[in-house]
Amino acid sequence: MKGIVFSEFIELVEEKFGLEILDAIIEEADLPSQGAYTQVGTYDHKELLVLLDKLSAHSGIDATSLSKIFGEHLLKRFAELYPQFFVDIDNCFDLLKTIDTRVHLEVQQLYPEAELPSFDNMMVNADTMQLIYQSSRPFSALAYGLINGSASYFGETIDIQMNDQSDAGKSFVVFTLKKRA
Ligand code: HEM
Repeated sequence: MKGIVFSEFIELVEEKFGLEILDAIIEEADLPSQGAYTQVGTYDHKELLVLLDKLSAHSGIDATSLSKIFGEHLLKRFAELYPQFFVDIDNCFDLLKTIDTRVHLEVQQLYPEAELPSFDNMMVNADTMQLIYQSSRPFSALAYGLINGSASYFGETIDIQMNDQSDAGKSFVVFTLKKRA
């Protein structure tokens, strides 16, 4: 997983939980990288799972909720760092439709070593979209946060339902997203 994801996580922890907790979770996690991430480096995605677990132990917030919070933060940061993906888009469904066909495609071209999930989308009606997340990594809660963050970015509110059909080592989650009037 690209270092940008890790460095944003580290910044969020420092900002929301403080340097002391950040240092403690890095030390306890005992990571191959020692928590020294560069944006362009590549690291084992399991390091993020360990850091989330350690942060959960220190904060008393479960790792799933932390992943969602992180996803929301990450979307805001992506919008700052990669504004080109947000130009000419004025609602969250339109952004979500471009993840596979544009955003992650370009990320993959830029960083061939990146490991991207896939998102198939289908409109159920004008206010409801289905998004199917498939990955060999367990980041559906992060996806949830990124989806919620996309809605907030456009000032929208959506209800998100998750139907998790994952099995060992393979994530398969059907998200049903309903725009609130
Ligand atoms: C709009 C700007 C976005 C950018 C620039 C972006 C970029 C990235 C990058 C660099 C990674 C790390 C890939 C790696 O090296 O392993 C990643 C992973 C991921 N992205 Fe995006 N992304 C964006 C939007 C989204 C949105 C809106 C969603 C949710 C629907 C999403 C879902 C994910 C997930 C779940 C992962 C974790 C990897 C996995 O699950 O297998 N991304 N993205």
